[in-house]
Amino acid sequence: MDADLKQDIYNQAIEWIREAGDRIRESIGEPLTIDTKSNPNDLVTQMDKNTEKFFVEKIKGKYAHHHLISEEGFGDKLNTMDGVVWIIDPIDGTMNFVHQKRNFAISIGIYVDGIGEIGLIYDVMDDILYSAKRGEGAYKNGVKLPALENKRLEESILALNSFWTCENRAVNEKKMQELVKKVRGTRSYGSAALEFAYLAEGILDGYVTMKLAPWDIAAGVILVQEVGGTTTKADGQPLDLLKDNTILSANQTIHEEIYSSYIELK
Ligand code: IPD
Ligand code: CA
Ligand code: CA
Ligand code: CA
Repeated sequence: MDADLKQDIYNQAIEWIREAGDRIRESIGEPLTIDTKSNPNDLVTQMDKNTEKFFVEKIKGKYAHHHLISEEGFGDKLNTMDGVVWIIDPIDGTMNFVHQKRNFAISIGIYVDGIGEIGLIYDVMDDILYSAKRGEGAYKNGVKLPALENKRLEESILALNSFWTCENRAVNEKKMQELVKKVRGTRSYGSAALEFAYLAEGILDGYVTMKLAPWDIAAGVILVQEVGGTTTKADGQPLDLLKDNTILSANQTIHEEIYSSYIELK
């Protein structure tokens, strides 16, 4: 993609993500319309839908030939990553949005022929924008983030939710217990996008989770890549951005140690 066009899309996406965030912040105290989707804990609000519609209208209005993958069903149904594809989560961390009114983000990843070019994660309530362009580094509110430190697993904080302990778990839980014992600590923030952003910022050192959708990861993998980190499926295999993936993201040392010694998918 031509550098000027990429810059134009980047500036435009930032303007829209901030505008969408402003709207959410302004109405944060208003009553919500809450529905459930696949199960009683899988929440969606009118705000998720309206925010997604906002992006669809803006993108289709200005870039008619761009494609859009998004969570709440207003995007396109794609079976290829050809062309320019915006992958959007209008609110990542809907449960936090509903219960806590904080700790949620808007996530936008922009891909050209399958290559991640632009990643934006906007922590709405804290007004913090994480941004990255491929090959140009990752930024937090305009300040460049340093490359990830080469920390070892035993001095790491790992983002991990509790799904691996549940019924029908997809991994060998004994190995996961060993992993939890090995690391310095674990955290679970309830927003995949923020977990990637914190990893890029170096305040987390790894992220392991068993099922994320394209819109949960599209921006985050670009941010992490721009600080020298690696993101793959939990068993080290490449991601498929048109499907759900297991996720392992970390600096290269921790990434390799976790997938080779601790993850045994069933
Ligand atoms: C969810 C969050 C959460 C992750 C879930 C996602 P949503 O996204 O990222 O951290 O564990 O798997 O579905 O539904 O709040 O956009
Ligand atoms: Ca959701
Ligand atoms: Ca999400
Ligand atoms: Ca969402």
